[in-house]
This record gives sequence, C-alpha cells and structure tokens, in this order.
Amino acid sequence: LRSNKNFGQKWSKILDDHQTIELEQANKLVGHKKAAHVFLWAKNDQKLWGISQLASIMMQMRFDGYIGFPGGLIDPEDSDIVQGLNRELEEEINLEKEFFCTQHDYFFTCVCHSRKLVLHFYVKEVSHDQFKAMEQKSLVAEEYGKEVLGIIRPPLYKISPNKGFSVFVQSNFIGNALVQLLKTIDHLKILKTDELLSFIDSC
Ligand code: GTP
Ligand code: MN
Ligand code: MN
Ligand code: MN
Ligand code: MN
Ligand code: MN
Repeated sequence: LRSNKNFGQKWSKILDDHQTIELEQANKLVGHKKAAHVFLWAKNDQKLWGISQLASIMMQMRFDGYIGFPGGLIDPEDSDIVQGLNRELEEEINLEKEFFCTQHDYFFTCVCHSRKLVLHFYVKEVSHDQFKAMEQKSLVAEEYGKEVLGIIRPPLYKISPNKGFSVFVQSNFIGNALVQLLKTIDHLKILKTDELLSFIDSC
C-alpha cells in the first residue's frame, strides 16, 4: 500500500510522522507514551440497494471532531497494554468482558516520533449479531457523550463514483487511524488491494 505513487499529500503526511515498528523495538523506547486501539468488526453480507456492505467496523466520532478507533492511552496504573486497552474499551464502548482483547488480537505498532507516542493496534472479529449488540451497549458507556460523540460504521462500498468509501476516507482521522483502517482492511482482505487503492486515490 505504501508504495502506491498516487497517494496524495494527506497520506504522505501521516506516513512521514508514523512508522511501523516491531513490538520488541517499541518496548525499548523510553519516554514514549503508549496507546492502544482496536478494530472491532464483523462480516456483513447485508445488501444496500443490491451492494454488499462487506463488513461492519466500529469507529467513533471523537470529542475533538476527528474519527478514530475505540481505545486510548495506557495509564501508569494499568498492569499492561492489553489491560489498559480493555479498560479504555469498557469506558468508551461499555465492552462486555467476554469480548475483551488478548495478546492474540495484536496486529501491529506504529511510533509517532513528533508526539513521542507508541500506537499499538489490535483486531477482533465478532459475529454480526454480537456487533449490533455491542453498538447498542456502547450508547450507555461512561464516556458516551463525553470523549465519544457517536459510533460510526465506515461505508466500505462504492455506490457511485462519489458516494461511499472514497468519500469516507476523506474525513479527518486522528493520528494514523486512516493507516490503521486501510492496512487492516487489506490484511483481512475485506477489500482486494487494487480495489482499496482505487478508493484512496483521492486522498
Ligand atoms: P483520555 O482518556 O482523554 O486521555 O483519552 P484516551 O485515553 O481515550 O486517548 P485517545 O483515544 O485520545 O488516544 C490517545 C492518543 O492516541 C490521541 O491523542 C491520538 O493522537 C492517538 N489516537 C487516538 N485514537 C487513535 C486511533 O484510532 N488511531 C491512532 N493511531 N491513534 C489514535
Ligand atoms: Mn431513506
Ligand atoms: Mn478514553
Ligand atoms: Mn480514546
Ligand atoms: Mn484515557
Ligand atoms: Mn479518559
């Protein structure tokens, strides 16, 4: 994905500031804050005007106006990254304990040098019924209406040239959340790589 020559300014600005880093290397960084976020998702075969919705992915409108994933900063009181992530998920989306993340759900890490921030990313798949129940429960989360102003499902499909995912990717994303979104969609093969690239030409 990175090598695509069509990526515009927005994309290169994010990539300049965020580099993927091995977990082991990230753990050696001193003086960096840590954060962890999760890509909670379910396959979704339901059709909208004959077009498959492909998947439901949980993103959120944040207090600061940016779109991001549920999760947050690992606090000094947290015993480890996974526990800190689950604490944030309980606060932000009222996630049930049975869906808590484990180290098996770990995907990749980026380091943001300018903000001295290490960003860990996890992926967790659930059934679509479970996903819908999670959305419902998230409305009574402690942080709903505070840090979290709404939960969002990105439209992953193309309705017409200017309707669908190509419009969504032009939103304002926090940190490298756009990279996390695209990289994970590619990794999970929710969209084919060439399809994905055609969507983000406009970024
Ligand atoms: P507080 O409880 O208010 O501290 O917020 P938080 O702990 O929930 O932290 P937050 O989710 O805002 O994440 C901390 C930092 O990580 C943010 O300042 C962003 O720069 C970055 N961040 C937030 N969301 C995302 C995301 O989805 N992806 C990435 N890469 N970074 C994010
Ligand atoms: Mn209508
Ligand atoms: Mn939070
Ligand atoms: Mn957060
Ligand atoms: Mn927090
Ligand atoms: Mn908080």
